[in-house]
Amino acid sequence: MNPLANRHVLLGISGGIAAYKGAELVRLLRTRGAEVQVVLTEAATAFVTPLTLQALSGRPVRSQLLEAKEESAMGHIELARWADVVLVAPASANFLAKLSHGLADDLLTTLCLATDAPIVLAPAMNRQMWVAPATLANRARLLEHGHKLVGPDEGAQACGEVGLGRLVEPGVLMSRLETLFSPGPLAGVSVLITAGPTREAVDPVRFLGNRSSGRMGFAVAAAAVGAGARVTLVSGPVAVDTPARVERIDVVSARDMHAAVMSRAQGCDIFIGAAAVADYRPANPSPHKIKKAAPSLELKLARNPDILAEVAALPGGPFCVGFAAETEDLETNARRKLSRKSLDMLAANRVGFSGPGFESKENSLSLYWEGGSMELPVAPKEQLAVDLMEVITGRYLAKSAAENT
Ligand code: PMT
Repeated sequence: MNPLANRHVLLGISGGIAAYKGAELVRLLRTRGAEVQVVLTEAATAFVTPLTLQALSGRPVRSQLLEAKEESAMGHIELARWADVVLVAPASANFLAKLSHGLADDLLTTLCLATDAPIVLAPAMNRQMWVAPATLANRARLLEHGHKLVGPDEGAQACGEVGLGRLVEPGVLMSRLETLFSPGPLAGVSVLITAGPTREAVDPVRFLGNRSSGRMGFAVAAAAVGAGARVTLVSGPVAVDTPARVERIDVVSARDMHAAVMSRAQGCDIFIGAAAVADYRPANPSPHKIKKAAPSLELKLARNPDILAEVAALPGGPFCVGFAAETEDLETNARRKLSRKSLDMLAANRVGFSGPGFESKENSLSLYWEGGSMELPVAPKEQLAVDLMEVITGRYLAKSAAENT
């Protein structure tokens, strides 16, 4: 039986040329056995007729929030409760902006606020609007709120331009909805992730640290849960909320992180090292606060254990994914780390004094594995993490299948 059979899908359509694809979406949902209720924004009614959607869905199409006749059939709160999932396709830039700010000035935005069902958004807009700073900020906020973004696709746009902004194909949307109601490709798989910085004590009040905020690793943990995995997150000191259904272990120094990881690594299936672990620590931290008496001070540093390399060297160990933060020669340095540490995959990001990478809400990743590579362009870390987990999942499952034949 299809996972969408008998599910209540509330299809929201906002104003945009891709609104006409709503008819195909309703048809595909119905052939999968879903019950479909369509809600149009006012702008959407300029692009598609309610009559078409009503004929295809077999239910009256709703568009007004404050209309006695429509509310008497099924009130907006009842509709919000009825939905097992809310799919908004296309989701315009204006709709994303309203939802990300919690506005509720029409039926669709009100429903989205009132429902506890998952909300899946399929954006479609001009390519420049998609990367406008305001839209980027709205996308990041929506992902933080736990909404799922699918697409957009790259290609020719109705406005005559070419780029990212097309509504994803209806078939792709069906697969995403189906996975929402499926156990997930990583069901039964345990994933161990490191995140954040480490702090290496100089004395009781000072430490050597770095600029990692933990955002990237925490987003990867949330994405792994989304893929159905059991997730343990070993984190350095950060100020980021723990994603739902993640077991979090807090550590401070690289040696703490090493101990926490090594006691769990043998039992996990996938290890992802997103933490910025200090390579060195002060060799002899002072037991007392160091006084500023001398005109200069030298710190002797000792090497920390390389957690990722040790996990990758475990006999029968997990599928190992490293990160690499590089300021130059990204690919050369990344490929060197991939082979020196015997990793299955490496996600490299360019870092500098500013821009994506450390601390920021966005990042881009270059993925490398033996004989292959893939670019994940700049996006909010939550989105990037979902895309990264998809690649990790595919490569992990392929490796497991090859080992079992
Ligand atoms: O936390 P954010 O602000 O969101 O920033 C994200 C990030 C930039 C920190 C993240 O995307 C990232 O790149 N993390 C790895 C940073 C890093 O330490 O890179 P590296 O090239 O020094 O280390 C390579 C790999 O070895 C990493 O997987 C690291 O976790 C691991 N390592 C390094 C040293 C060590 N002693 N033990 C390790 O396990």
